[in-house]
Amino acid sequence: MNDEALSGREIIVESFGGVEVLRLRERTFSAPPPGHARVRTVAIGVGFTDLMARRGDYLLQRKVPFTPGYELVGEVVDHEELEPGTLVAAALPKMGAYADYVVLPSWLLVPLPDGLDPAVAATVPLDYLTALSILETHAQLTTGDTVLIHGASGGVGQALSQLGRLKGLRMYGTASAAGSDERLARYGVSFIDYRHQDFAAVIAQREPDGISAVFDHIGGANIRKGYRLLARGGVFVSYAFAGRPGHMVADTVRGALRVNLLNLLPGRRTAVCMLPKEIKSNHDWYRHSLRRLLEQVHAGELEVAPGATFPLAQAADVHRALERREINGKAVLTTK
Ligand SMILES: NC(=O)c1ccc[n+]([C@@H]2O[C@H](COP(=O)([O-])OP(=O)(O)OC[C@H]3O[C@@H](n4cnc5c(N)ncnc54)[C@H](OP(=O)(O)O)[C@@H]3O)[C@@H](O)[C@H]2O)c1
Repeated sequence: MNDEALSGREIIVESFGGVEVLRLRERTFSAPPPGHARVRTVAIGVGFTDLMARRGDYLLQRKVPFTPGYELVGEVVDHEELEPGTLVAAALPKMGAYADYVVLPSWLLVPLPDGLDPAVAATVPLDYLTALSILETHAQLTTGDTVLIHGASGGVGQALSQLGRLKGLRMYGTASAAGSDERLARYGVSFIDYRHQDFAAVIAQREPDGISAVFDHIGGANIRKGYRLLARGGVFVSYAFAGRPGHMVADTVRGALRVNLLNLLPGRRTAVCMLPKEIKSNHDWYRHSLRRLLEQVHAGELEVAPGATFPLAQAADVHRALERREINGKAVLTTK
């Protein structure tokens, strides 16, 4: 083990706000305490949740100053067991990935399959673990079940679509972005343009007996509309609530309460998926699932590609581009 502190950069959110609040600063990263590893980051995934946290409008909000970033791939620098240079992936339950180095508990580190591109792997942990939890922990579906995926063009939505295809689900997906119809068709998802079609009317007409599951990240009126589409025994899973800007936390709490109240009614189930909490409460599930997902990506069973790659110092440009929806898919920050 190397006891030396190492110098590097990190991005911090100094105060909540627009992209201008992201600041690059130099700092030192101490040697890891027992049971931890120091990791030199190589590729860092950037998603919509980072933007919410930067604005201070996120349920699991960190206090300022904080370093955003839920996921990364890096090289082990020093650890009790792993060889220096070993490539690992991790989802960070408390964020902190936008940096040259991170110090993480050992259980978070999952070695990369040999030859898997770090920039590709860095886009996997948050979206694919969330999708896997929705499908397997919360929904427990079987081949041939019919589901509705809201925002099937988004990060988590594409992960749900691809994992759903591997499970043999029949899938409908709402989206609006240009090219969504073709992208969704590639995953076997029937496209519903939510700007021009009423998703509930489309499903009610095509699936008069009801469907097995609805996966929702919008909340509000979508909750009751989606719940009503379920067949007996069906499940409604929420994984986010698109609240009013500045009121996102209160709106999320209110939405989660409504979803939980619906679960008191007989005949159908509801659930709320919150990945950071699930990672902390079930280390074995996290490690096993992330390893399995990375292997599926490596084997080409899941098509994953970053929509754009930028150097760490340009984190603000990435946030701006994601906000303007100029990047299709997830972005990646690189440190070398
Ligand atoms: N529960 C968890 O642990 C967890 C984990 C990860 C993410 N999240 C949350 O999940 C949400 C989505 O994250 P993401 O990274 O997938 O975001 P994203 O990549 O920006 O995708 C969101 C998608 O939602 C679609 N959308 C927007 N308005 C819609 C509407 N009214 N109806 C249906 N679809 C609509 C957009 O589709 P078009 O662009 O095609 O219009 C977009 O593709 C965020 O709130 C995020 O914080 C939660």
